[in-house]
Amino acid sequence: MGKHIVVIPGDGIGREVTDAAVEILKKTDEIYHLDFTYEWKDAGGTAYDKYGVPLPEETVNACRKGDGILFGAVGGDQWDHLEPSLRPEKAILGLRKSLGLYVNLRPVKIQDSMIEYSPLKPEIARGTDIMIVRELVGGIYFGKRCESEINDGVERAWDVESYSVPEVERITRFAMEAARKRHGHVTSVDKSNVLASSRLWRRTAVRVHDEEYPDIQLDHMYVDNCAQQFAIHPSFFDVVVTSNMFGDILSDEAAVLSGSIGMLPSASIGKETSLYEPIHGSAPDIAGKGIANPIATILSAAMMLRYSFNEDRAADAIEKAVNQTLEDGYRTGDIYREGMKKVDGEGMTEAILQNLH
Ligand code: NAI
Ligand code: MG
Repeated sequence: MGKHIVVIPGDGIGREVTDAAVEILKKTDEIYHLDFTYEWKDAGGTAYDKYGVPLPEETVNACRKGDGILFGAVGGDQWDHLEPSLRPEKAILGLRKSLGLYVNLRPVKIQDSMIEYSPLKPEIARGTDIMIVRELVGGIYFGKRCESEINDGVERAWDVESYSVPEVERITRFAMEAARKRHGHVTSVDKSNVLASSRLWRRTAVRVHDEEYPDIQLDHMYVDNCAQQFAIHPSFFDVVVTSNMFGDILSDEAAVLSGSIGMLPSASIGKETSLYEPIHGSAPDIAGKGIANPIATILSAAMMLRYSFNEDRAADAIEKAVNQTLEDGYRTGDIYREGMKKVDGEGMTEAILQNLH
């Protein structure tokens, strides 16, 4: 059965990196007979210039009907003067909200051929392959808040962290399923020594595990300890599942471990459809020069195959082609080191296509 992919290039380097990923998807389709169709839609500053809004209704409707969404990036200096509701960045927040994307997935893998890019010592970085599963629509970012209240002459503000059992069950199941596709190990991260919401999180994770996923190894870690372990023993982790706020902070920490922002993909998963995008932005400083690294977006497309279409073999093939190309020494400017083969975005894409079987 065919799959319909909605491509949203957005602004800046978004166009060139999504073009590269679509080329890879087309070749993968040829090899594995996946029967993909494509449709391009506007979002971000580009959409504002055409329609006066960063996220046109038409784009949202197309996304609702699509089987998967490939998103480039949005933003740029020329739109920074706009009022907040019209800024390009509203497009991605609006999509997450209107499509009900409840989990954010961020894999961080350090290939042996890329170990020197990590800020960690090689013996610590080696073998790092973490999948962060972050709850995206609950917790303190969506709880009740108060900007200012005055009691006995003292001003105070507050934000409420709360999680329900169904919210934790859903994200735990997602993490367990992801672990079944990986190395069968889940670390649930919380602060249950202090927070009631974390204690509910932990006992719910334990119950879901015991009843439904006894084949998975589940352990628990406090968030402060996890932040340390990422820096001193990252190869311990396989899947890390955590709340919205802890996941926000830990996923940024994990991203720097690899030392190359142009190579990290992400997925935001919903019940009906899911969105795949590089973690980097629109890189206005290099936009239009053709030198952007397309790997983050190509690996995002591979995640679409794995998590939306269950095409693990095709996803593996793309990831293998990327790794082989890096091992062959091909490097875009952002990851270039002396003695390597310097290529532009098209050169990198071409080399990956050659390695795709
Ligand atoms: P950025 O990620 O766009 O760029 C940071 C630095 O990394 C720049 O020097 C850039 O040239 C480099 N870089 C990023 N991706 C690269 C790639 N694929 N290949 C080679 N080099 C790459 O972040 P920045 O500069 O903070 O933001 C630029 C714009 O992007 C802003 O308008 C920001 O709001 C937006 N943005 C959008 C995101 C999204 O669409 N999800 C996420 C992050 C930022
Ligand atoms: Mg963040």
